[in-house]
Order: sequence, then C-alpha cells, then structure tokens
Amino acid sequence: MNKFKVVLTKEKKQKPNPDTLKFGTVFTDHMFVMDYEPEKGWHDGRIVPYAPLELDPAASVLHYGQEMFEGLKAYKTKEGKVQLFRPDMNAKRTNNTNERMCMPHIDEDVYVDAIKALVKIDSEWIPDKKDTALYVRPFMIATDNYLGVSASKTYKFIIILSPVGPYYESGLAPTKIYVENEYVRSTPGGTGFAKIGGNYAAAMKAESKAHEMGYDQVLWLDAIEKKYVEEIGTSNAFFKIDGQLYTAPLYGTILPGITRDSMITVMRDWGYMVNEQRLAIEDVFKAAEEGKLEEVFATGTAAVISPIGELFWNDKHVVINNNEIGSLSQKLYDELYGMQIGEKEDIRGWIVAVE
Ligand SMILES: Cc1ncc(COP(=O)(O)O)c(C=O)c1O
Repeated sequence: MNKFKVVLTKEKKQKPNPDTLKFGTVFTDHMFVMDYEPEKGWHDGRIVPYAPLELDPAASVLHYGQEMFEGLKAYKTKEGKVQLFRPDMNAKRTNNTNERMCMPHIDEDVYVDAIKALVKIDSEWIPDKKDTALYVRPFMIATDNYLGVSASKTYKFIIILSPVGPYYESGLAPTKIYVENEYVRSTPGGTGFAKIGGNYAAAMKAESKAHEMGYDQVLWLDAIEKKYVEEIGTSNAFFKIDGQLYTAPLYGTILPGITRDSMITVMRDWGYMVNEQRLAIEDVFKAAEEGKLEEVFATGTAAVISPIGELFWNDKHVVINNNEIGSLSQKLYDELYGMQIGEKEDIRGWIVAVE
C-alpha cells in the first residue's frame, strides 16, 4: 500500500444523525489531495483536514471545464469491517475519462490506495444503518492559470467523503420517468462515456423540465434518431421484456456503469439472457401494450437499483408492473447490496477490504 503524508484535523466535526441523512450534504473531517506537474508527474499525495480550496480565478477548470469525477461507496459490515465495491473499476474509468479529456493518467494502485487510506482515517463516519454508506467522491481539476483554450499542464486530484442516506428519499419505491425527445445528452464521438461535469451541466435543463412536470428523472434517447433508449439521469437503464433483459450497448454515448456491469454479470450467472443492444422506445411501448414489459429499472452506485413504475413518451403513458418493484429488481438489489454490506457471499472477488 502506498504511504501518504497525513495531517489530522484539530477539530473533529459533529457526525450527522443516521436516521435523517440525505445524499451528499455532509462531509467528513479529512480529504486527500495530490498534485500533478509535467516534470514531477503525480506527487505529494497527502491527507489533510477537509477545507475549502484556494484557486486562482484564472484556473482553467473554472473556464473550460477540464475536470472529471467518480463515485463509489464504502460500507461497514455487521462485524464492523470496512469495505469497498470494485474500486479498481472506478480507477480504470477515471483513466478512460482522462484520456478523452487530455488529463494525465493516474496509477490505479495509487488511486485505490488513496481511497483506502482516506476511508480508513474517516471510518468512524461510515453510517451502519440500512441503506446508508460513506460516499467516496474522487475528482480531478485543471489548475493552470491561463485563459487560452488548451489542455492544462497542472492538475489536482482530490477525494472527499460524504456519509449518505438513500439517493431517493422514497427508497426502493418505483419512480416516474420522462422520456426526453427534445434535448440530447450525448452524441457518438462526444463525451457521454466520460464522467465529466459538463455532461451533467448540459443535462440539467431536461431534468428540471421533467421535475416541473412531476417526473423524477429523464430517460435519454440517442441523439441522432431520437429513437433508441440510452440511460436514465445518473444511472443505466434495463428493460425486461418477455423474460429477456435489454440494456443500451457501450458505444461511447452512455456511462459504462459499474453497477450495470455487475448486474449483467449476476443476471447472466443466474441464467438470464441479457442483450446489450439498441432498443427502440417504440418497442418498449409496444411491449407494454402487449403485456410483455415486465420490469424496467435503473442501476447506479447511488441507489443500486431504482425500479421504474411509469414511463411517459410523446403523450403516451405506461405503468409498469402495477407501479410496484419487480421480483427481479428486488432480487438484484438484495444480491448486490447484500454483497456490499457483507451479508451475501462475494464469489466474484468484487469486495475490497479497507484494513
Ligand atoms: C450518467 C450516469 N450513468 C450511469 C451511472 C451509473 O454508474 P455506476 O453504476 O458506476 O454508479 C451514473 C452514476 O455514476 C451516471 O452518472
């Protein structure tokens, strides 16, 4: 394990009440920071008290958005062990994002070691109530003080931690989804597969429109034909039609979700046919009319699974599985969350202990 310099806080903050925890509003006592310069590479990895950053107003991240972020969770088992779920996948995805964004690669072992070291120091912040966890947010920002448009030469890599409750206050209750056919999220050749703030900023308009109309989230369609389903807000989308599963393929326009990958593996192990192929929204609605649309669910780190109870597209409206969580969605949630909190056996080597 890599060793990092540690400066402990002199004033520990008060921990939040685990019963009323929201998502992403409270932050722990420490953060990890590491700097990049072309001559030195990544250097000076350190854990320091959580504090505001000092940035020059000309820092290029503030103008051209050269930055990226990740998200994963640390869990505490009943026995008090601390564990992460597939953090190596976040490290790999970070490097894929960085490649697209002209940002420097980061050694995957250093990345995972930094997460482990920080989580260990702040492990008393991990809530252990059901459906709570410690959310880990690694991110990288371009720090050159330069107003020209070009890749920065210097960067900061930072990790912060936030004890969180359920992503949706309603927990596993089915959500209402608006199928967006005006705005688009990403195009082939664009940055849809990269985890960068720009993708999310550009999606806010459609999301606020959906919220105003009474929907929880947006289901994006492909940008060229506005025909094929892509992903939902901050999660990947799965459709169970006549016993088979469908989810959008990875051809650059959707985020390759780690939960998506895990669900596909688990479902295939259970004998389900999972098709990573384009699925027309029209066919989803047709399947619903024919009584073959059995379940729709979204997958992501924040909520693990979020069942979809209603879809609205082009003045058409369908209710899925009587607006109740489907049996497969529930089984997948129990399996993955069970593994994450150490109550189900980890037969695939996905759990990484923080010791
Ligand atoms: C746009 C988008 N799609 C999918 C996901 C799900 O990815 P993961 O399962 O790695 O959390 C996320 C969440 O990070 C996301 O922001």
